[in-house]
Amino acid sequence: MKIFLDTANRELIKKWLPTGLIDGITTNPSHLSKEGSDVKQVISDICAMVPGPISVEVVEKTPEAVYAQAKHITTFGEQVVVKIPCASQYFPVIHKLVQEGVSINVTLVFTPLQALMVAKLGVMLISPFVGRWDDIGVDGFTLLEETVNIKNLYDFDAEILAASVRSPLQWQKIAQLGVDAVTVPPAVFEQAINHPLTEKGMAIFDADWNKLGVNGSL
Ligand code: G3P
Repeated sequence: MKIFLDTANRELIKKWLPTGLIDGITTNPSHLSKEGSDVKQVISDICAMVPGPISVEVVEKTPEAVYAQAKHITTFGEQVVVKIPCASQYFPVIHKLVQEGVSINVTLVFTPLQALMVAKLGVMLISPFVGRWDDIGVDGFTLLEETVNIKNLYDFDAEILAASVRSPLQWQKIAQLGVDAVTVPPAVFEQAINHPLTEKGMAIFDADWNKLGVNGSL
C-alpha cells in the first residue's frame, strides 16, 4: 500500500519523510490556504523534498479554465499530478488531459460508479472520500469496499487512493481492503506508527536496565 501525506505543510512533510514510508503528497485548496499566498513556492518546495507524486488541485471553475490551469499546474514539477473534482462538466477536460499524457487524480469521489466512470478515462488516481461519508451518517467504508470490488472485477489501471481518512483504526480497516494507496493527515500517520503500549514497554525495559547501573553500554 502506498502512503501519501494529506497536507501542504512543509515542516510536517520534512518531519515524516525520513521515516521512509511516504510515497507522495496530496494537497487540496484547504491545505494550501493555510500555507501562505505564495502557492507556487510551497508546491515547488514540496516537489524538491518529495520524489513521489504530488497532487495539486485546480481552483478554476469553467471547463476551459480548468483545462488551462491543469496544464499550468503540470509546469510546477515533473511529479505533479493534477487533481480535478469528479463533476460531469470536467469529464471532457479529464479525457483530453489524459490523452495528452497528463497524470490526473480525480478527487471528491463518493460512489463506486463514479470511480468506474473515471477509471474508464484512464486517470492515474481515483480518490474516494471515506470520512466525509461518515460525517453525514453513511458508511464510507462499505462504499470504498464496493469500489475496490469493482476495481478487481474490471481490473482497471487507475489506482484507488483512499482519502478523507480520520483515524488509524479507519486506516487499518481500509488496509484490509487492498486499496492501492491511502492519503492520511500527518496526525493520523503519527498515531498509526506509535502505540501507548510500545511507549510503556520501552519505559519498563529502561527501568529494568537502569538497575544494572551500566548506563547505555551493552
Ligand atoms: O485531501 C482530500 C481529503 O483527504 C480531505 O479529507 O478530512 O478534509 O475530509 P477531509
